[in-house]
Order: sequence, then structure tokens, then C-alpha cells
Amino acid sequence: MAVEQRTRSDEVLSARERYVARGVATTPLVVARAEGARIWDVDGREYVDFAGGLGCQNTGHGFAATAIHEQVDTYLHQCFMVGMYEPYVEVCRLLDELWPGESETRSLLVNSGAEAIENAVKIARVATGRPAVLAFDHAFHGRTNLTMALTAKVVPYKDGFGPLAPEVYRAALDIDDVKRVFKQDVNPARVACIVLEPVQGEGGFIPMPEEFPRRLKELCDEHGILYVDDEVQSGVGRTGPVWAIEHYGIEPDLLVSGKSLGGGLPLAGVTGKAQLVDAVPAGGLGGTFGGNPLACAAAIAVLNEVRTPEFRARAEELATRIRVRLEALNAGEVRGLGVMLAVELAEKTPARASRITAAARDRGLVLLSAGMYGNVIRILVPLTIDDELLERGFRLLEEAFGDADAA
Ligand SMILES: Cc1ncc(COP(=O)(O)O)c(C=O)c1O
Repeated sequence: MAVEQRTRSDEVLSARERYVARGVATTPLVVARAEGARIWDVDGREYVDFAGGLGCQNTGHGFAATAIHEQVDTYLHQCFMVGMYEPYVEVCRLLDELWPGESETRSLLVNSGAEAIENAVKIARVATGRPAVLAFDHAFHGRTNLTMALTAKVVPYKDGFGPLAPEVYRAALDIDDVKRVFKQDVNPARVACIVLEPVQGEGGFIPMPEEFPRRLKELCDEHGILYVDDEVQSGVGRTGPVWAIEHYGIEPDLLVSGKSLGGGLPLAGVTGKAQLVDAVPAGGLGGTFGGNPLACAAAIAVLNEVRTPEFRARAEELATRIRVRLEALNAGEVRGLGVMLAVELAEKTPARASRITAAARDRGLVLLSAGMYGNVIRILVPLTIDDELLERGFRLLEEAFGDADAA
């Protein structure tokens, strides 16, 4: 009887089981190298990447490598609070230039999307002198104490991790329901901010209804509530314009960026109207590693790329093509904005979506699911993918649907 050969992936997987926390969910993919929209595993297998490191590679794997290499040779961590450096200031300047509105802004850089959301809420509370925060159905804002309270899914994000942060309220994606919450649960005069993703990500790629952000902003203005735009997943060119809120034509009070901002390095930002951000006295914001020089060097390259008309035009072209291919699958509701596109399968359980993502991996396609019921297949492909590789990815996707249903 032939002895089954243990691959390098098998070895890493057993070490992972032995040494890495179970609470960090993983797939069996063990990466050795990545470039553009391709990944190679430790056994030399090539994959088409439709996940982009969970939405962090809008400009493709390795895009900012030159800028990062240059920075490595100059200096690494300084702590911005100890010794300032130009790349941090330049990222904040670019965020100001790219702000979706007319206001003068200030920015703060941190390490993760969740940390940025926490800081946006801190700023909103100080600026308004109010404690409460309103989040929405299907929201995902992170895994820290405050952000898991803002997130709208119990298992696995909140279950057992309480007590959750207080003064968090939740409404449906509907103005009448926000008004109901203001009557039933919290006086709007006590609400510091609302936090909303223009296209909800982990919640299942749900774009906001066309009029909802504008009407919500009007309601916020009426009650002195700040509008926090969570662009961690939808921003940095994913939907065409740099920020998804640009589709809705409103100016938020605070905007949170992350994921693709650092081109694969950990970086997130809070940008907001100057008088709001500056309401916090010196020392109230910051952190040891926030705005690390390497991540800032990458972000400068990324922001200067995603703002170009060529990048946007390509994203829009990809969006049209991908939507057609997803609709041709005839697998359920296709929705999203720009290249933040997904198909929601009919059954409200994760079973079929998990079979599809596993079959895709077996065939050489990295693919993710999402959604309250885990039944949404989502596309977060690097926007630098060429037509041929995209075509190959879609062939694999179609085959994976077939395999999953045959299993
Ligand atoms: C919309 C949104 N906000 C916040 C976060 C949290 O970001 P991070 O995982 O970097 O803390 C995420 C992560 O998926 C996200 O999609």
C-alpha cells in the first residue's frame, strides 16, 4: 500500500493546530508567495486570488514593494509621538485632498480598522459631549470591545465575550426605524454619532439604498449627531471612486479607512472635519505603532494610484464584467457596488457557500463567503487583475459551483 506523502502544507497545518489559537479561523491555504492577483502555496500550487487578503489588495500583491523597500533602507519605527516623519504627514495630506467634501480635515493614523472605528467614536464623543452610538443591522466594524458591540452578528463575533460596551443602539437600514429607535431606545440628543458602511462588507455586500445615506445625514444634522462613514472595506477604490460614499453625494463628518490603504501593511485612518478631530486634546489619540513609516510609504503609493482616472475606469470596467459573470451563474441575488460584488445563495445556511469556497480552493481559486447566514459568495479581487486571469478565475468559480452541487 502506498504511503501517503505529507506535503509542506500538511506540516504547516499540523503546526498551526498545535500552536495557533483555534479562535483565529483559517482555511487550509498556506501561502509562499503572491504577486498581482496570483498566490502560490508552499507546495508550489498557483491560485487566482478573488479575496485580496480580505479586501486589502485593491492595488494587487506587491504593488507598493518599491516604496516599501526604499523606506526599509531609510528608517523603520520611530513612534510618531517621539519623532515625527514625513510619510505620516503626507498620508494625512493625501487623505485631506481625497476627502469627499469641501471641509478642511485632520487625520490620525492607527493600526487596524477596529482601532480606527474606536478612535472615530472617541472623537465623536468628545466633539459632541454625548455618549451614545447608533449602528445598523448587518454591520461589521471589528472585534475589539467597542467594535464588537457595534457589529451585528452574535456568533462568532460577540458570543461569550461580554459584557459588551454600553450605549450602543441598533436600527434597520431604514429612516423610519432610526426614528423609532430615537423614540423607543435613546434620545437623539444623547447620540454622539451613527456609524455606517456605505456598502456593508462582512454583513453580505449590501449597498445602502440610494436615498438612505442622504436622509440619514439630514436626520443627523437635525439632531447634532455626527455621521461616521466606515470605508474600511468599501474604500480605497474598491467601488470605483476612492470612497464609496461618493456614490451617494454626501459629506460625512468622520471617515474611517483601512485594509487596502496600507497596500498589505497594517494601516488605518480616521479623517474628519478639522474642528471635530481637534476637539480632542493632545495625548488623547495615538498609539505606539500607529502610522508606522513602512505602512505610510505604502499608503502614499496606493492613494496616488487609486485616485487616477485610469484606475477608476478599470475598476468600473471590471465591475460590469464581473456582474455579468455572477448573474450568469443564476445562483441567487447578485448585488454590490463597483467591484464589491457578491451573490447571495438562496438557502440561509453557510453549508453550500462553504462547499463552493472549498471546491474553488481545490481547483486553484481563493474565494470568500460573507453574510449574516454565511451564504454570500463575495468577490474582492485585486483591481489590477488582467482579463486573462479574471477569465481563468471565473472558469474556476463556475467549476467550483458545479463541484459543490455534485458533492
Ligand atoms: C467595514 C469594516 N469595518 C471595520 C473592520 C475592522 O477592521 P480590522 O479587521 O482591520 O480591525 C472591518 C474588517 O473587516 C470592516 O470590514
